Amino acid sequence: MATSRPRVFISRRLPAAGLARLQQATDAVVWPDRMPPSRAELLAAVSGCAGIVSLLSDTIDAEVFDAAGPQLKVVSNYAVGVNNIDLAEARRRGIAVGNTPDVLTDATADIAVALLLAAARHLQPAADEVRQGAWRTWEPTGWLGQDLTGRTLGIVGMGRIGAAVARRLAGGWGMRVLYTARSEKQLDGLADARRVTLEQLLQESDFVSLHTALTEETRGMISHKQLALMKPTAVLVNTARGAVIDQDALVQGLKQGRPWAAGLDVTEPEPLPPEHPLVGLANCMILPHIGSATVATRDAMAEICVDNLLAGLAGQPLRCPIG
Ligand code: DGY
Repeated sequence: MATSRPRVFISRRLPAAGLARLQQATDAVVWPDRMPPSRAELLAAVSGCAGIVSLLSDTIDAEVFDAAGPQLKVVSNYAVGVNNIDLAEARRRGIAVGNTPDVLTDATADIAVALLLAAARHLQPAADEVRQGAWRTWEPTGWLGQDLTGRTLGIVGMGRIGAAVARRLAGGWGMRVLYTARSEKQLDGLADARRVTLEQLLQESDFVSLHTALTEETRGMISHKQLALMKPTAVLVNTARGAVIDQDALVQGLKQGRPWAAGLDVTEPEPLPPEHPLVGLANCMILPHIGSATVATRDAMAEICVDNLLAGLAGQPLRCPIG
């Protein structure tokens, strides 16, 4: 007698390899649109599901768990960050939660370095000048930026991605590395990296790169007071979550030249409306959250995501569990 396959909702089209495996093993419903389901559509779609594949743009909380029903066993987030999921509520209900760490470390670190370079050397406004036909001549004092070599890098939240950024910049540009973390770290290839307070890091760093998870503790952790500690030549990079920065404070800081420039791959909200004051600032480069966006990385994330989901459906330990 054929057994019925578990119902699963996948809130966006994943790379093909992952999707095919899911479709073989489950009764999978894939949200077909480019845009995420609305709240009402999400609540309706999860009804009766034993598993959910969520994206960082889906808020997964008690209301979603209720809408799914008591048979919900697993939520597999297609991201390493899980700030979109109410983890305490999932734990309380015995719903397993998984994420996709490690495989996106290099891709995200590359984007952090790219933003750091771009912001330090005015790449966006300089390239815009060419495109707009406004390039007139070579100027001795035109587009002067900041050097990287031998400068100090501050990693806020030293974890896998922070360490990968630090290795690139310490190895390639000879930067001195400072970091914040809950505890002292033994970091491969970064023997000289020094753990300091956030205040000291902000005061001493020429480049500050944010890699902390978004929690109630880290929400808005970079605000007026912290920006005021930064050097007037410092560059701030964020590839973590937008809400780690108080964006109103950043607008004011960038206008006053402290920090000197910023490079953001993440904002609050996402997408950031084009009329947001950050968008118009020449010393702020903003990318549409593309840290993990390489072909190989997104494929690898899909593999983990599907492994997590199938394990959760089978009542087995997830490949990459949270908590
Ligand atoms: C994540 O995984 O949390 C990134 O922000 C998107 O890949």
